[in-house]
Amino acid sequence: MSKKILVLCMAALMAVMAMVAGCGSDKKAADGEKVLKVGTNADFAPFEFQGTDPNAYDGFDMDLIRAIGKEMGYKVEINNLAFDGLIPSLEAGNIDVIISGMTINEERKQKVLFSDPYYQSGLSIMVPKDNDSIKGFSDLKGKKIAVQIGTTSANEAKKISGAEVKELNSSADTFIELAAKGVDAVINDRPVNDRYIVESKNDNVKTLPELLTAEDYGIAINKNNTELQGKVNAALKKLKENGEYDKLYEKWFGAKK
Ligand code: ARG
Repeated sequence: MSKKILVLCMAALMAVMAMVAGCGSDKKAADGEKVLKVGTNADFAPFEFQGTDPNAYDGFDMDLIRAIGKEMGYKVEINNLAFDGLIPSLEAGNIDVIISGMTINEERKQKVLFSDPYYQSGLSIMVPKDNDSIKGFSDLKGKKIAVQIGTTSANEAKKISGAEVKELNSSADTFIELAAKGVDAVINDRPVNDRYIVESKNDNVKTLPELLTAEDYGIAINKNNTELQGKVNAALKKLKENGEYDKLYEKWFGAKK
């Protein structure tokens, strides 16, 4: 082998070694702490959303998973993904857990493990303020409805006879669609609808009092990882016992009834 080729080979080898080292570094933090890769869809206030800093994630779920990570001795890394891409990412092993206001249901239990429930929720309907004809779920027949793709709202909307269901990428998109009069109603998780009414400057919409479903949120974990499920449940239990969970609940939703 000529000297020139040898030098080139050495350079190539060094480049590969640098790449391998780079890949490995994201599994453990620099200080050797274990990393918990969390997937969420951060457009769902008050559970997960981005503030003014695009790399900072805020909300009840974000605070809760950081507290769980701390309890478990893991550094928490948040990955903002499409909601309908979360379970595939978990199955592919790209993330370790999902916390995303995700409802525990049978369909999802086929694919993932869930932690114990951490929040009681349900769905509600949002309509323009001046609409007096839609008073509840049964008035949605034949109407145009916006929902976020891959959600329990999408499942419910599809059960309504004659309804035209628009499946959009985020819950923010469903609100925009309603404001633009592209649909007659939005179905979404009640706390998120309520928060939108309070926080947005949109004075032209209202939510209906009827709660369509009762749903529990859970943290999703890879189907094969019962060990991680145990750790998450133990941490959640601890936070409920030591008052930390209640503190976070109050911070985001006010005192528990
Ligand atoms: N609870 C509903 C579901 O599990 C909606 C969750 C949407 N979450 C979000 N971060 N966009 O299907």
